[in-house]
Amino acid sequence: MSWFPCTGKTKKKSKSQKQSSHPPEKLKSNSSFVVKKEIQKDGCDHHIAAQTFTFRELAAATKNFRADCLLGEGGFGRVYKGRLESTNQIVAIKQLDRNGLQGNREFLVEVLMLSLLHHPNLVNLTGYCADGDQRLLVYEFMPLGSLEDHLHDLPPDKKRLDWNTRMKIAVGAAKGLEYLHDKANPPVIYRDLKCSNILLGEGYHPKLSDFGLAKLGPVGDKTHVSTRVMGTYGYCAPEYAMTGQLTLKSDVYSFGIVLLEIITGRKAIDNSRATGEHNLVAWARPLFKDRRKFSQMADPMLQGQYPTRGLYQALAVAAMCVQEQPTMRPLIADVVTALTYLASQKYEHESQPVQRSGFAPGTPPRTRRDSDKKYSSRSEKDQGRGLN
Ligand SMILES: Nc1ncnc2c1ncn2[C@@H]1O[C@H](COP(=O)(O)OP(=O)(O)O)[C@@H](O)[C@H]1O
Ligand SMILES: [Mg+2]
Repeated sequence: MSWFPCTGKTKKKSKSQKQSSHPPEKLKSNSSFVVKKEIQKDGCDHHIAAQTFTFRELAAATKNFRADCLLGEGGFGRVYKGRLESTNQIVAIKQLDRNGLQGNREFLVEVLMLSLLHHPNLVNLTGYCADGDQRLLVYEFMPLGSLEDHLHDLPPDKKRLDWNTRMKIAVGAAKGLEYLHDKANPPVIYRDLKCSNILLGEGYHPKLSDFGLAKLGPVGDKTHVSTRVMGTYGYCAPEYAMTGQLTLKSDVYSFGIVLLEIITGRKAIDNSRATGEHNLVAWARPLFKDRRKFSQMADPMLQGQYPTRGLYQALAVAAMCVQEQPTMRPLIADVVTALTYLASQKYEHESQPVQRSGFAPGTPPRTRRDSDKKYSSRSEKDQGRGLN
């Protein structure tokens, strides 16, 4: 998990960069009893599916947190692969850093959110441990790791994600977000959407993880919730970074950045690139204006194996999501519709790509006939135009 203000770096956060949106909570008797009490306060104890584990059980599952069980490390602690002795289930165990106990609030939020929210594109919380001052979260194990592991800094022998898989991951992540925004009641603002929080299961099935930063969205006639700025530099919507005003559209912006990373293979922030190319969205904005530049934006790792029109459409969705004005960004439900359509248009390698549609950006066709109509009405002179 990486909970820290927007001024931090994207990877391997130092302890000083991690901050809670609230003052560190004083841990009283520090037991799973406290966690259960918090859950009961919310009146939702009937829905809790997560089990409680003792520290001893989780130490046994990870061979005493042995280095060769380490899966990765985020801003709030280390993640280990383990096998639960009682059920033989393979799990991922996140051991939160104990220093400062800043993570206690996030620990509670994570347990509460994941106990209440269930969707095929959200990671499952198997259980948790609040033994003494230990705080651990036990998740289903996601065998293919994170999207970040498949997009950036790949070892030479690792398979590159092909276009179809990229679109499958994009639509699945968008569906997870749609569930939080539109199905959860009240809506949940995720706040920490980024490639390392999109975990991949068999067949590259994506699931969103890390809910410690999630916020309940505005209710009634309120348009936003005001909060201290948290999240990850490079993914934060500008209005949220500047004013702390958080809306569902802040998540849509972060989704746009993730989609750009999926299409371009570039990191949200990459200081090893040439001047002017450090910030992905700043690099992309001028290119969105000229359709002839779109092929320059495709990840070179794709080696040209992508549908030209699909690339255009995916870039159109990303461009709309990262608009400066939050009200101009689409609702995540519209993004899901557009990406579902895009993902259904399978690209066949080395052969003629499937290019039947030509819908205008953001208006995915409802029927094949509609799409054909729009395609045939688009004139050749459109070809050099950009997205805005
Ligand atoms: N449920 C899981 N299954 C498999 N790997 C996981 C799981 N959760 C986390 N990981 C791995 O551990 C790494 C660290 O996770 P995390 O602490 O959430 O930090 P971050 O999200 O900043 O990378 C992830 O990037 C991922 O590779
Ligand atoms: Mg994470």
